[in-house]
Amino acid sequence: MHTAPAPLVDRLGRVHTDLRVSLTDRCNLRCTYCMPAEGLDWLPRAELLTDAEVVRLVRIAVRRLGIASVRLTGGEPLLRRGLPALVGELTGLGVELSLTTNGIGLARMAGALAAAGLRRVNVSLDTLRRDRYQEITRRDRIADVLAGLAAARAAGLAPVKINTVPVRGVNDDELLDLVEFAAEHGYRLRFIESMPLDAQGAWDRSSMITADELLAVLGTRHRLIPVPRGPLGAGRGTPPAEEFRIAGTDTVLGVIASVTRPFCGTCDRVRLTADGQLRNCLFATEESDLRALLRGGAEDAEIERAWRRTIARKGPGHAIDSADFVRPARPMSAIGG
Ligand code: 5AD
Ligand code: SF4
Repeated sequence: MHTAPAPLVDRLGRVHTDLRVSLTDRCNLRCTYCMPAEGLDWLPRAELLTDAEVVRLVRIAVRRLGIASVRLTGGEPLLRRGLPALVGELTGLGVELSLTTNGIGLARMAGALAAAGLRRVNVSLDTLRRDRYQEITRRDRIADVLAGLAAARAAGLAPVKINTVPVRGVNDDELLDLVEFAAEHGYRLRFIESMPLDAQGAWDRSSMITADELLAVLGTRHRLIPVPRGPLGAGRGTPPAEEFRIAGTDTVLGVIASVTRPFCGTCDRVRLTADGQLRNCLFATEESDLRALLRGGAEDAEIERAWRRTIARKGPGHAIDSADFVRPARPMSAIGG
């Protein structure tokens, strides 16, 4: 009865199968590389997509555009009320669902989320030290995050990944400790190069730890064996993470070198903001207002066309590392990571 939808393809032939949906721009932390201490001007509630609107857009994405995996992001997506019910509706669409969270509240919610069909979580954790966690996030919540990680594993979410942004002079003396911690608990650690997406515009290249630098540090203790990528990045070692196994162990580490080894050429991602704006890139300077279409009574076919137009216009890459790089108007917390 159903034929496979035509792929969501751009001018460069990149096929888009991964959708990131931001469920809120709010957060209960204030990570210094993300937002100022006082927080940001949050989107008014009326501007956020409702659950029904999110479900409708994801249904269109899955049924008409060939989206196969959906990641829920924020801000902090666990702050969205009624999240387990929304997760249940989305998994009902037959999509592989994952979540990126700061881990606060995960201890309480992991069971319900797993029961609703969530498969995997990525938890942000930049340090193992309580005082340092408080300096980085401006909140004394590391115990909640550690409890959240354990609860995610106990609930059967697998793999449980940890995202760490290494920053010079902040947590660069803890890289090996983080590897050890992840190995010991069976979490999969990924280091992410810091990107110029903070709301304050304070990013400077010199504080970023590059993938080369990171691998050099890890290499002082471990022998790292690259995990081969499958055809078109399928299987283990899917982009954008480059994955390595620690020789003699089952421990796998990832490095996401967004700045120094951009993966724009194989990008398969499209992003929907919490207020219903479609972005063809984290760094896009244009958005397409799907919420206006939804609320204006558009048919699914019209939304599909708008979506395809937005992807068709996708640029070749972000050029963060070049002098003419232009920051997007929204910070990361309002786009979704
Ligand atoms: N650069 C790189 N990663 C970032 N994150 C948040 N801000 C930045 C940034 N400026 C990370 C968070 C989280 C993920 C969604 O993105 O630590 O793990
Ligand atoms: Fe919140 Fe994530 Fe930004 Fe930290 S990085 S303040 S956890 S949105």
